[in-house]
Amino acid sequence: MSAIDSGELPIVADPLPLGGHTNLRRSLRAMRQNAETAYGPEDFNADIITQRIFWRRMFVVNEPNAIRHIVLDNAANYTKSEVGRRLLEPALGRGLLTSEGETWRRHRRIMAPAFDPRSVAGYTPIMTRLTEQLLAKWDALPAPRELDVAAAMMELTLYIISNAMFSSDSDEIVASVERGVSTYQTKVRPSLPDLLHLPIWLSRLLAPLPTKIFSEFDLKVDRLLTERGKQPDAEPKDLLARLIAARDDETGSGMSAKEVRDQVVTIFMAGHETTSLALSWTFYLLSQHPEIEAKLHAELADVLDGRTPVNQDVARLRYTRMVIEESMRLYPPAHTFGRQPIVDDHILGHRIPAGAEVLILPWLIHRKPSLWENPELFDPERFAPERTGARPRFAYIPFGAGARICIGAAFAMTEATLILACIAQRYRLRLVPGHPVEPQGLITLRPRYGLRMTLQRRAH
Ligand code: HEM
Repeated sequence: MSAIDSGELPIVADPLPLGGHTNLRRSLRAMRQNAETAYGPEDFNADIITQRIFWRRMFVVNEPNAIRHIVLDNAANYTKSEVGRRLLEPALGRGLLTSEGETWRRHRRIMAPAFDPRSVAGYTPIMTRLTEQLLAKWDALPAPRELDVAAAMMELTLYIISNAMFSSDSDEIVASVERGVSTYQTKVRPSLPDLLHLPIWLSRLLAPLPTKIFSEFDLKVDRLLTERGKQPDAEPKDLLARLIAARDDETGSGMSAKEVRDQVVTIFMAGHETTSLALSWTFYLLSQHPEIEAKLHAELADVLDGRTPVNQDVARLRYTRMVIEESMRLYPPAHTFGRQPIVDDHILGHRIPAGAEVLILPWLIHRKPSLWENPELFDPERFAPERTGARPRFAYIPFGAGARICIGAAFAMTEATLILACIAQRYRLRLVPGHPVEPQGLITLRPRYGLRMTLQRRAH
């Protein structure tokens, strides 16, 4: 029996104490402007933080065994959180990220082969070709080559997901997703009625959501689907084809147009921004740590010697991967995810009532001093195999964990490794002096003011 089971620890008496720092106005402001500012230095050390907004209970769970309990051992008792669903559903509908139960299981089964190692290997030429195209554009820039690297990575990963999953290199689709995502991140934040789980109709009346954000994108997706419908034989064997062709084992029925649309939007959204942020934060950290950048360059010279990487190189680019892993420790693109128990649970001595909001924050656990020595230090060596093995598995969860672990984790790591290798071979990126860098936790963890950097061509 695990230590988090209520049998071993006293249950904290109700009512739960409010975390000292939690004040309603401050929490709401943090949720709207920057989720990370809700947590003070003492919270990184905590195993569990209890909060309350009127009658709603919230628990931030920040201990590896307790996280394991929620996402793995007792996962059947947890659904995704209602607040998260309310935040994402207006855009994503019921795609893989937001669906539950049998629908989720069926859709995950249908989609899994498109993310297996063989499929990911098949996408690598797309990843490197599009990165080389970007580098050719960078080469042609007049001096001083200065740009927003966060925006450049967003666009690159968007073209890659669009090509790999939907065989589309439509500029229109990319442009409309870019517009949609940036509006969504800034305009759609949890409202008090949503946090209180008021009925949806009442929440929308009190805190209306902008509904038009994705209508432009929906039209483009409709066109993509219609074009596929016209030439079923010419269709490439990509994720879209898989979604259209999928049949239920028992009923023989396929996905409805709405279901296909929801998966397409989900993969577009979940499949590019997080990876682009992992890369942006990596370039920022490397610009601040030339000694680590030098080690990265040494590996690239050793493994690649100036050529474009191919799939077989990914496994050999060990240090490159460690750099990305360490960057996602400090700046986890998916900084928070939520669950809620179906029936009461007990965690670390607390009774977690059915329906309570349970939050897991990679942002906190990745910097917990009892798990990470010098947690603020950027040190890729932490991810050397012998040191990784010595840490609790659930201390590092950039892709989540358990059955609902990110389906695109291998895709993302391969993509980030290849992009970093291609770019770092050619350019050294340096922050424009005076450019402010602030992590801002909205749906994802973004650099609040973008990342204006100068591109310095490396001599060979
Ligand atoms: C560095 C890049 C990425 C990060 C940090 C990331 C992070 C995450 C996390 C933390 C979850 C779990 C959320 C939860 O448990 O509530 C998740 C789920 C998911 N991710 Fe990713 N992700 C990344 C890249 C991708 C890519 C490239 C794709 C698709 C091409 C993708 C598609 C999804 C989907 C569909 C889910 C839902 C899976 C399910 O519930 O079955 N992600 N991701």
